[in-house]
Formats: sequence, structure tokens, C-alpha cells
Amino acid sequence: MSTRSLRDRHGRVATDLRVSLTDRCNLRCTYCMPEAGLPWLPKPTLLTDDEVVRLVGIAVSDLGVREVRFTGGEPLLRPGLPDIIAAVAALDPRPEISLTSNAIGLDKLAATLEEAGLDRINVSLDTLRPERFTELAKRDRLGATLAGIEAAAATGLAPVKINTVLMRGVNDDEAPALLRFALAHGYQLRFIEQMPLDAGGTWRREEMITAAEILESLKAEFDLTPDPAHRGSAPAETWLVDGGPAKVGVIGSVTRPFCGDCDRTRLTADGQVRNCLFARGETDLRGLARSGAGDDEIAARWQEAMWGKLPGHGIDDPSFLQPARPMSAIGG
Ligand code: 5AD
Ligand code: SF4
Repeated sequence: MSTRSLRDRHGRVATDLRVSLTDRCNLRCTYCMPEAGLPWLPKPTLLTDDEVVRLVGIAVSDLGVREVRFTGGEPLLRPGLPDIIAAVAALDPRPEISLTSNAIGLDKLAATLEEAGLDRINVSLDTLRPERFTELAKRDRLGATLAGIEAAAATGLAPVKINTVLMRGVNDDEAPALLRFALAHGYQLRFIEQMPLDAGGTWRREEMITAAEILESLKAEFDLTPDPAHRGSAPAETWLVDGGPAKVGVIGSVTRPFCGDCDRTRLTADGQVRNCLFARGETDLRGLARSGAGDDEIAARWQEAMWGKLPGHGIDDPSFLQPARPMSAIGG
């Protein structure tokens, strides 16, 4: 049992750690990355596999973190992923281990990752139409994504969760089709309101498809009733589809913020702690670790970083400023 925890001054405790393993990606989803890519983090600034495992170990064994999610960029691009997962699965207490991925290449990796200790997977999928996928992600890879999702489900990483971002005039007519697809395969679908995290800074509040609109378009085809199960700190509000047991989730990050229940802490691929996706500042654990700091000192710095977490993301404040780093560098 760890004696410390990652509290903030508003009474929240972070028990869910998101670790970005790379800022690179093989897709270019328009709400995330420009088509030309981004200036990637220089290799020497990236945490090594051993450094990742050490920092995650401090979070799990000393700071009360119970869930570890690996993200990117695209985490499957990290060569050491299976070894990192295996080392994290060997921690005491063993955390829940999950992955957020675009699923490209997962057909070949799913079994290895599951054996290493991966428990669950969330896949990003915004359309089922090949030409739309190419328009949205700037790469013709829908087939590879679908193959990866199928492999994950077949390997026992079930239930696979699917994350969808709807964009006006792009894929906002596809909510019912995506839900039909998810129901047919037993995947858990969640729609996420688009957040101002794109590298290009093109997000517009008025352009965003809201949670209310998503529900409206689903109700044209499905009967939705509020899920009686407790929401807890999960950001998705869930509905039973046609009486259940199937469910659909809507994450209203912007119009229905859940900051008051947030239990997350984040570590970037270059070893910076962020207490929020939208934080303006970061705390350098890489430098600390490389300067020879002990676990205690690193744990204390992590606690300090979380203590200053703001009560909310403030997207609706006139003074809101988009974070200096895009989603791919922060980690979903
Ligand atoms: N707004 C909302 N969701 C986003 N994602 C990436 N960028 C954004 C954004 N700007 C999603 C991806 C992935 C998860 C990590 O976050 O689709 O599923
Ligand atoms: Fe890659 Fe995910 Fe960004 Fe799409 S949203 S470009 S899959 S990191």
C-alpha cells in the first residue's frame, strides 16, 4: 500500500495515469495533427523504456495510481511496448493496464500485448466509409484499423471500446451507423465532443457537434434510456440502447465537463507531468530522474504538480487559451 496520494487542493485524488509513449502517429486525424506532421520530439528527450517503467512504478507503488493507460501519438509505434506492459504488469500492486490506439498493426500485436498483461483497449474510429476515413485521417487505412479492432476482440481484449469524434459536415451523419456497427460486434461505442487540442488551432465552439446533437441523431434510430449504473469518475454518460443491455456513451468534455470528478494525471513522452490536458504548465520528471533523484524526491515533485491542478478546463471562459502542445504530444 502506498502511503501517499496525488491529491489536489480541490479534493480530487488522481488514481488514473495516462502515459504518452510517443508523439508520432501513422494517421493525421484533422482534429489532432496537420497533414505534414509535427516537429517530433527529439529522441534524447524521450523517456527510455526503463525510465517509463521507473516513473510508472513510482506512481503505482508510492502514489496510489491504480490504472495505467498508454497513449500517444500512436502507442503501437513504440517498439518497447510489450516489454513496458510486462514490466508494469509486474508492479505491486498490479495496476489495470489499458491502451488508446488507432489499431493499425494491432492484428499482429494483439496477442503479444495481451500475454504481456494488457487488460483493455480503446480504439479511435470516426467513420466506416473508406473515402471518408482518408479525408479525415489523411491516410487510406480503414481496412487496417478494422482488422486491428477485430483482432483485439478475438484475443480477449474485449470489450473493445471505440471512441468517435463527430465533425460538422464531415461525419456528423454517421452516429447511427457507427452504433449499429458497434452493437453488431459487441463493441462499446463512445462519442467524444471535439476539444480544442488540434495542432493547427482551428477548433471553433460553434462548429463543434455537441453531446445534445449526438443524442438527438441517435434517437432518430434508437431508444435511449439513462443507464442506472453509477457514473462515478467515468467521463462518459451512458445510455441503454433499446432497453439494454447494450450501451452507448457520450463524453461531453466541453458542454458537460466532468472536471470536478477528474481522477487523472498525465505523463508526456518526454517525461513531463501534466495535471490536466489543458494545463498551461508542466513539471519535468525526466530531468529530475536523469540528475540522479531518488524515488522519494520524484514522488514529492509529482505530488506538488498535482496539488496545483485547476478546478476546470475553462474552455468556455473568454480568457481560455489552447494548451501549447497538441493532443499527440500530451497523450489522450
Ligand atoms: N477532441 C476530442 N477527442 C480527441 N481525440 C484526439 N484529439 C481529440 C480532440 N481534439 C481522441 C482520439 C482518441 C482519444 C485519445 O482522443 O480520437 O480516441
Ligand atoms: Fe494519430 Fe490519434 Fe492523433 Fe489520429 S487522433 S492523428 S490516430 S494520435
